[in-house]
Amino acid sequence: MAKQTKLVSSARPFLKWAGGKTQLLNEFSKRLPIELKNGKITKYVEPFIGGGAFFFYLNQRFSFERCSICDVNEELYLSYRVIQRSVKKLISELETLESDYLSLDDKERESFYYEVRNAFNRQLPEINFNTYQTGWIKRAAWIIFLNRTCFNGLFRLNQRGEFNVPFGKYKNPDILNEDNLNDVATLLKATQIHRGDFVTCRKFIDDRTFVYFDPPYRPLNETSSFTSYSKHGFSDNDQVRLAEFFKELDAKGAKIMLSNSDPKNENPGDSFFDDLYSGYYIERVPAKRMINCNGSGRGNINELIITNYPAKKP
Ligand SMILES: C[S@@+](CC[C@H](N)C(=O)[O-])C[C@H]1O[C@@H](n2cnc3c(N)ncnc32)[C@H](O)[C@@H]1O
Repeated sequence: MAKQTKLVSSARPFLKWAGGKTQLLNEFSKRLPIELKNGKITKYVEPFIGGGAFFFYLNQRFSFERCSICDVNEELYLSYRVIQRSVKKLISELETLESDYLSLDDKERESFYYEVRNAFNRQLPEINFNTYQTGWIKRAAWIIFLNRTCFNGLFRLNQRGEFNVPFGKYKNPDILNEDNLNDVATLLKATQIHRGDFVTCRKFIDDRTFVYFDPPYRPLNETSSFTSYSKHGFSDNDQVRLAEFFKELDAKGAKIMLSNSDPKNENPGDSFFDDLYSGYYIERVPAKRMINCNGSGRGNINELIITNYPAKKP
C-alpha cells in the first residue's frame, strides 16, 4: 500500500540532468492524486525518468509496491542498471577516479577530463546495451564522473551518440557520494528499469498506478531547441503520440500527471497542448528555465501541469 510515511527512502538524484524537475517538486506535491494519499495507488511509473527528481521525491514520502522507470537514453539506462546490480564495484571505480582527479592541478584536471571523455566515446561501438555486462560498471563510473566535472552538468550527445560537453572547471566537484549511491541502489532493488520509447511501460500501468510524464520540452523557439538527451529527438508527432498514450492510460483508470513548457510563453496564440489535452485539467505554474543550449533563454516562464484528475490545492 502506498501509505504516507516519513522518509521511506533517502535516495536523491545521482546525475544532474537537463530538464530536471527539482524546482517544481513543490508544485507537483500540491497536485498529487488523493488515491496516492489514501493508499489506493500501489504502483508508480515514470516513462521519461531522466535524473528522476520526482521519482526520488515520491519515494521519500510513499512506499510503493512497485515502481517502473524508463528512458530512451541508453547511457542513462546503463547507469541505473549498474547501480541496481553492482553498486559496490561502481563505488570502487569512482573512488579511484575521484582520488586520481583531485590529486591533479587545474591544467592536469582538464586533460584528465578529456582523456575520460575520449575513452568514453571510443568505447561506444563496443558497448552492447541489450545485455548486462561487467564492462558497464566502468562506463557508469565515467558517466557520473563526466556529469560531475563537465560544463553545467549537462548530458548532451551529438548525432553519433558521442558525449560532447566541454570541461566544467569546478573547484570541488562532488564525484563520489557513496551514501547516496547505496540509498539509490536500495530503492532500485524494488524498481523495474526499462530502456526504450515511453510506450514500453504500457503493460505495467493499471487503475492502481500513478504515472508521471516529463517528456523533452517542446522548444520555446527555434533557437532554444535543447532536445539532445539522445540521438533520437522528440518531435511534435511524438507529443501527439504521447497525448494518445495519455488518453489510453486514462481509459485504463490510471492517475496521470504530465509537465511541459508552455508554448504560450513565446506565442500567446499557440494552444498546442491546450488542444492536445482538452478535457483534462491544465494548470500553468511559474518556473525558471535553467538549461538550454546557449544559456540565453534563462528567465521566468510558465510550466504546464496537466492531470486527468482534479488536482487539489491546499
Ligand atoms: C525532461 S527530461 C526528464 C527529466 C526528469 N524528469 C528529471 O527530473 O531529471 C526527458 C527525458 O526523456 C527521455 N526521452 C526522450 N525521448 C524519449 C522517448 N521517446 N521515450 C522515453 N524517453 C524519452 C530523454 O532521454 C530525457 O531523459
